[in-house]
Amino acid sequence: MNRAASASNLRILPLRNQDIPELVQLAREIWYAHFPSIITVEQIEYMLNQRYRPEVIGEQLANGTAWWDKLLLDDHLIAFSACALSEHPEAMKLDKLYVRYDLRRHGYGSLLLRQVEERARRLGCSRVYLQVNRHNRSAIDAYLRNGYSVTQSARVDIGAGFVMDDYVMSKALPVA
Ligand SMILES: CC(C)(COP(=O)(O)OP(=O)(O)OC[C@H]1O[C@@H](n2cnc3c(N)ncnc32)[C@H](O)[C@@H]1OP(=O)(O)O)[C@@H](O)C(=O)NCCC(=O)NCCS
Repeated sequence: MNRAASASNLRILPLRNQDIPELVQLAREIWYAHFPSIITVEQIEYMLNQRYRPEVIGEQLANGTAWWDKLLLDDHLIAFSACALSEHPEAMKLDKLYVRYDLRRHGYGSLLLRQVEERARRLGCSRVYLQVNRHNRSAIDAYLRNGYSVTQSARVDIGAGFVMDDYVMSKALPVA
């Protein structure tokens, strides 16, 4: 890990309701910086609307179906993750991992990943898994570097004629 990701001005905290507008804005900026070379703008809009509507996130916070973590650098929101228990009782699903675009490669994504893995271990999970677009090479590299490996391909119909063309990646956790 490099110096930035071990700095003392970094904090990982649970996302709160009042953070949602800022998080939605950050997600939109990252998606528009990163995904136009991977999926169409129409699909970006569709997926942002599906996953980042304030009421969708607020409901997850309220009913505890997902853990959202925010990473603050000097009190500024610069990255976030979300994870949830899955249909596989032994597994935690990493559902979101996003770092402000100009701050990639500073170790922040890895820091959030470790937090998710620690939570999974505490809850008795033996692995963490995720889905990543097959053409999202930089994210795949980041997951590989963090000990994940590709276990299968997954083509998922997400409605409105859109499809996610993904890999499933997984990492076994040491026994707690
Ligand atoms: C994918 C993402 C979350 C990774 O977070 P990050 O903070 O940039 O990654 P880290 O700095 O922790 O990287 C850890 C290691 O992963 C690898 N890695 C990360 N980004 C990489 C890239 N663009 N190219 C090659 N390797 C990369 C490197 O080995 C890196 O270590 P190093 O910088 O010491 O060589 C972040 O880049 C991001 O938000 N990307 C856009 C959104 C996205 O695709 N999210 C994932 C959706 S499934």
